[in-house]
Amino acid sequence: DLSPIDKAKFVAAKRACTYVESGMKLGLGTGSTAAWLVRCLGEMVRDDGLRVTGVPTSRRTADLAQAAGIPVISLDEARWLDLTIDGADEYDGALNLIKGGGGALLQEKIVATASDRMIVIADISKKVETLGAFPLPVEVIPFGWQTSKALVEEALVGLDVMGTTASLRMNGQTPFVTDEGNHILDLHLTRIGNARQLALVLNQIPGVVENGLFIDICDIVITGYGDGRVTVHD
Ligand code: A5P
Repeated sequence: DLSPIDKAKFVAAKRACTYVESGMKLGLGTGSTAAWLVRCLGEMVRDDGLRVTGVPTSRRTADLAQAAGIPVISLDEARWLDLTIDGADEYDGALNLIKGGGGALLQEKIVATASDRMIVIADISKKVETLGAFPLPVEVIPFGWQTSKALVEEALVGLDVMGTTASLRMNGQTPFVTDEGNHILDLHLTRIGNARQLALVLNQIPGVVENGLFIDICDIVITGYGDGRVTVHD
């Protein structure tokens, strides 16, 4: 009774659970696919006696984990994680990612980087030849964000991208605010020729806290299909 897209997300999440072992400290991603993972893990804790602790990557996921009965600790308590499982907005053949469609990229990148392994769970629609059709989220501090936006757009001109406009993400009539109290610029690039270079350039700009490119962070992508099939890329 699940729609094909939910089925795809569910089967990817379910497969990711087979990588989880008792005693692990887990990074818990954010978004609709990661929400399936939290539900599956919650069932394993409740029904199979799985013992894990989770570090959530957002307030939303912290609430979900608590509701699912997964013990939650902070990253500072955990210090180091065995595995992070998260969704993505796009992934390419080199397992590089765009993340942050849900606005949680900053905590997601910190948590994934603090983990021995990162597994991405995604439906097949997230797979791309070249990153960039999905607008790239860039987190900026509220102070002087218009200046940061202008600097970002200026920096894009010299780079291997097809678009150079950035838009402030809104939440109704007011700017979207992240869990860390920042704003998000969505960069409309269409095609990112050199993701590694772009990620470095963006993070040099004053006011930019982090960008949604995950380069060499993800180890495995588990892709779900609407008919229930799953493929694993590593
Ligand atoms: C949250 O900020 C994002 O990085 C999500 O992981 C990403 O947007 C994927 O979300 P869905 O699983 O809802 O597509």
